[in-house]
Amino acid sequence: MSSNSTNGAHELHTEDEALSVLLDADIDKVMAGLDRIVEAAPSYQKLFMRWQRQQWSTEDFDFTEDARQWADPDLITKEERDFLLFGFSQFFLGEERVTAELLPFAMGAPSHEAQAFLTTQISDEAKHMVFFDRFYREVLGASAATIGDMLDQQRANVNEDWERLFNGILHDCAERLRKDPSDFAALVRGITVYMVVIEGTLALTGARFIIRSLKERGWFPGFTAGFTAVNRDESRHVGFGVKFLADAISADPANARIIEETLKETLPVASLVFVPPGVENPYDFETPFYRSEEIFEYAMKALSKKLAAMGLDPAMLAAAA
Ligand SMILES: [Fe+2]
Ligand SMILES: [Fe+2]
Repeated sequence: MSSNSTNGAHELHTEDEALSVLLDADIDKVMAGLDRIVEAAPSYQKLFMRWQRQQWSTEDFDFTEDARQWADPDLITKEERDFLLFGFSQFFLGEERVTAELLPFAMGAPSHEAQAFLTTQISDEAKHMVFFDRFYREVLGASAATIGDMLDQQRANVNEDWERLFNGILHDCAERLRKDPSDFAALVRGITVYMVVIEGTLALTGARFIIRSLKERGWFPGFTAGFTAVNRDESRHVGFGVKFLADAISADPANARIIEETLKETLPVASLVFVPPGVENPYDFETPFYRSEEIFEYAMKALSKKLAAMGLDPAMLAAAA
């Protein structure tokens, strides 16, 4: 952002405009809004104010029609059910992991502004987990005494690469920060994994394809409304991550090297998180809702935009992927 004070008012106006797009209920507009946020690079304070205005409740959504549809044996095929359970579970368990692992990131935040934002994100991620827990109970008909029991029941639905990314790489990032919150290089690596790869590349891409597929079929109206609100939050989180990394690169170009190394380590695992169980070729497969090449292409484009916004050359991805 320019320090030229005559441009300041205009830039603030642009930031507000970019952020207001996220209020839209259409997922493709939410995604376009993210591009605008990333370009406008709003300050942590702006993102915090937006969080205050974008509150929603897990109780806002009516799941009656969703439950009726899931219970209808003629509406959804076995292949579609299996694929949806795989996708929903990766999100549900993912929301739980990112809630817990974000705590050390907030401890390591280099300013109170960044820390204040990260505490809002912790509460968002917890809300997303509770939203999925409610969906599993009221729509998918699952029952469990606690959220922990519910997560354990669904654990068999996630793939091995999900385990490697969340319980391996992300957990290691959080552990390094837990041991030494002043380790700035660990924070740069962690934010690359968390906000850029997991949220900005995997989650927003996967969500866009799930929401689009469900809307085309008129399925799960309560869920699609709630999941759109989830992804509006995710866009804000990614906006934070891109701003943080762009500032880190400006402060010390050596941080660009850490981001590049982290992407090289993470992307080969991350791309396989999209792969549902039982496919023959993990790089070329078909799901009941879309083909692998569509989702891989969308994810790479999403990631490239974020790298460009940080001032990095997206061509590095050719070597990393
Ligand atoms: Fe989330
Ligand atoms: Fe998030």
